[in-house]
Amino acid sequence: MNRLDDKKRVLVVDDVRSNILTLNEFLKDQYVVMMATSGEKALNLCFSEYKPHVILLDVIMSGMDGYDVCRQLKNREETKDIPIIFITSMNEVADEQYGLELGANDYLRKPVNPEICRIRIDHQLKLQEARSLLKDDRNHLEQLILERSEELNQTQDITIQCIASLAETRDNETGNHIRRTKNNVVLIARELAKNPLYKEFLSEELISILGKSAPLHDVGKIGIPDSILLKPGKLTDEEFTEMKQHTIYGAEALLKAERKLGSNSFLRYATEIALNHHERWDGKGYPGGLSKKSIPLSARIMAVADVYDALISTRCYKKAFPHAKAVEIINEGSGTQFDPLVVSCFNKIKEEIRVSALEFTDTEDQKNALS
Ligand SMILES: [Fe+2]
Repeated sequence: MNRLDDKKRVLVVDDVRSNILTLNEFLKDQYVVMMATSGEKALNLCFSEYKPHVILLDVIMSGMDGYDVCRQLKNREETKDIPIIFITSMNEVADEQYGLELGANDYLRKPVNPEICRIRIDHQLKLQEARSLLKDDRNHLEQLILERSEELNQTQDITIQCIASLAETRDNETGNHIRRTKNNVVLIARELAKNPLYKEFLSEELISILGKSAPLHDVGKIGIPDSILLKPGKLTDEEFTEMKQHTIYGAEALLKAERKLGSNSFLRYATEIALNHHERWDGKGYPGGLSKKSIPLSARIMAVADVYDALISTRCYKKAFPHAKAVEIINEGSGTQFDPLVVSCFNKIKEEIRVSALEFTDTEDQKNALS
């Protein structure tokens, strides 16, 4: 059954009782007629659970007048959408305009013609119904968009995780390095965001993008032959030159993706990090030999996050360094390998970094090193 087939409630407000009774006679067959002989009584009815669907409101009343009632109803969230039709004997255009400006939906002049009154009420009810349907549709669409965005986010996260794991599992047995470096990047970036220099740049949104991008820093290792990547001993100069290429391979793959997908802040930062995470503050890093602030901030953060994790990780050629030793080595590199400001942030949150790394350990040896 159409909702408009239900009997709707019409509130008639007039301080002259006989006027209300006349309107009641016109309307009672089609609507449930509610009556109020003052503005205050009308407001009480409108704020009750049994509120009207339309209000026929007299303007001039003793006590609170129709304009006051209208103003109060339009100011309250729960009543602002109830259509108001002013009924008045006034015939000044200015009064009519004033009422409409207050938010009234229509105007009727006394003496009220019963048929016109019914038509005007029906119009308001139909408009109200249409508005409510539109609102429902909009809410439904917004909910759908939220759900789809959440799905896309999850798909993106899982895809990143898969690609990063592919690169990772070739020289490491678990994906925990990815999780730990991601946490390190986010923790350092949050600390750095407290500095007035970076407060504006490092928004919570950007920090989240950096955290998402971080797992892809070594994605270019997919392009490095096993004979070099998995070599237990020291690399020859030639092998090391090839190994350094992982920064370029990774950046190229991510750039290709960005070219296909269009500009995308996640891919842009992922490229920046993949290309520059082995650059050094003193300019002796690779692949570009960039120095100081010419190295993107994302990569300066990643460098500290990545090296700390390498230090506390077990490798076939070394045991995991204890947390304190790893912190010492990072500090020794401040101003040469690393941005001193990033190291000072790292120092402030090193305990948080240690605790978060303990959640994702790879080996017993690493667990002991962090405990
Ligand atoms: Fe790397």
